[in-house]
Amino acid sequence: MCGIIGYIGEESAATILLNGLKRLEYRGYDSAGMCTIDQSKIQIKKGVGKVDEIHKKLNLTNLSGNIGIAHTRWATHGKVTIANAHPHTSCKEDIAIVHNGTIENYQELKEILIKDGHNFKSETDSEVIAHLIEKFYLEYKDEEKAVLTVANMLKGAFAFAAIFQKNPNILIGVRKDSPLVIGIGKDGYFLASDILAFIDHTDRAIFLDNQEIAIVSRKGVKILTFNGLEVNKSITQVAWEVSDVSKKEFKHFTLKEIKEQVYTVRAALNQDLNKIDEFCNKIKNAKRIYVVACGTSYHAGLMAKHLFNKLAKIYIEPIIASEFLHYGDLTDGGSVIIAISQSGETADVLNVVREARKQGLKVFAIVNSVSSSLVRESDLSLFINCGPEIGVAATKSFTSQLVIIYLLALKLAGLSIEDSGLLKLSKYVREVLKLEDEIQKISLKYYNNGDFYYVGRGPHFPIALEGALKLKELAYIHAEGMPAGELKHGTLALINDGTPVVVLNPYDETYFETLGNAAEMKARGAKIIGVSDRMNEIYDDFIHLPTVNKLLYPIIEVIPLQLLAYYITIARKQDPDYPRNLAKSVTVK
Ligand code: G6P
Repeated sequence: MCGIIGYIGEESAATILLNGLKRLEYRGYDSAGMCTIDQSKIQIKKGVGKVDEIHKKLNLTNLSGNIGIAHTRWATHGKVTIANAHPHTSCKEDIAIVHNGTIENYQELKEILIKDGHNFKSETDSEVIAHLIEKFYLEYKDEEKAVLTVANMLKGAFAFAAIFQKNPNILIGVRKDSPLVIGIGKDGYFLASDILAFIDHTDRAIFLDNQEIAIVSRKGVKILTFNGLEVNKSITQVAWEVSDVSKKEFKHFTLKEIKEQVYTVRAALNQDLNKIDEFCNKIKNAKRIYVVACGTSYHAGLMAKHLFNKLAKIYIEPIIASEFLHYGDLTDGGSVIIAISQSGETADVLNVVREARKQGLKVFAIVNSVSSSLVRESDLSLFINCGPEIGVAATKSFTSQLVIIYLLALKLAGLSIEDSGLLKLSKYVREVLKLEDEIQKISLKYYNNGDFYYVGRGPHFPIALEGALKLKELAYIHAEGMPAGELKHGTLALINDGTPVVVLNPYDETYFETLGNAAEMKARGAKIIGVSDRMNEIYDDFIHLPTVNKLLYPIIEVIPLQLLAYYITIARKQDPDYPRNLAKSVTVK
């Protein structure tokens, strides 16, 4: 995982790379580094921590030159140390690379290189790329040929960029199964994991496909396949809106994104109805429907299972993407895949999609990032339209995914959108957000607890899972979400005096049974945080949600849980935007 960016042009590379790195931090933020070439010399600066901290310490923009590469890391191979931070260099330090992904055969390659006399300075898999390029560059005296040879030797999913001290007029990028996009500016060219890295400079981009290499000079771009054949690729005009990544008046992106849900649930409704029809027709006729997703998107998949079955009698099987190939049978024909992903770059999801397509299955996506690999590799994509989500923990993308799932379920069941109340959703979200102060007060009572439980029945169970995930991700508190009725089959043993249990208990058909479970927990000392549209004396704390159409209720029910996790995190003095050990876009399997 990680974010990479490269620049070649007329401007100072370091300033451009630094801004790009900040935009790429959602891909990893445990260490970062950059290098430029000036006066025929590669100069490198790298450090541990977030980009701003490293910049404060090392003054990254001090690096001169108008060609360079940079990297923000989420460690896979090797600890978080300066030595393991990128860029990595060849033995002579005259070739530098930055890499995103994993090199599966790095041990074997490293052994060969060590026997050849190469000295390694890090514990990373990435460093083999620099040494391999060095080996073939010495042999061929040709940058393009050397990189092409190396690209064909590497196994795994990767994107990397390389620069050469001997030739400061060329920047080479390679893509296989990890994203890489070229930006075409007025005074220079960019190479990056995501257009966000250079969107301030240009909205013109070329998306590399798998197994392609870009040789970028100040005069233009040449693209080759891994077979060495030159390809012509079209330039895409990217929507400028993606550049809206400021925090505005908010202290954190996470809070801004929670609040934005007033608008994003409405934007998600903005769908091409023909596409919704097509999506529904395709899945209706399938023999089996699998949903593949990870994390929060998987919870949206669980809600799809519930709604499709309940409303349209269509049975779907959500499977966590990393488990899918050990479980799902793709060979029987007639199955389709629905892939749900905010980023459209999650490696576990793409892995399933690629395997499914190899076997002739159709893939339909529900996705946020319009220029993602998932979109390009799916037969049909529906966009959730929630704008860039920067906070590592998904918030607004979840409610937008739910809106699309509702639209699909209604369509599959032949029900009208108007009667569903979906059009009033935005108003309800606004009402729920008014509970912010109360939720903050509740957070102050419980922020020191080490364990939390979230329970709900039926459609409230996926919301319980999502509430617990938010707390784990943001506040580093152990939390479990589970069906309310299941608690007594084991987990009740963990309930002690004062254990907080968030009970999702709307006044619907699940109400009395869930209340009974809450009573069982309270009798064993639990503190009950009731989230409901009906007050009950059993609750120690109460989050009073508005009464809305019961179909819609789960969408608004998750918002107080997002706020609770956010404020507990603030009370614990942690940074909600950049939780430790995590990354927003998980591009490794
Ligand atoms: C990472 C993020 C989660 C996210 C999951 C799936 O683990 O930290 O917040 O839910 O990836 O991401 P996707 O982009 O595929 O929805």
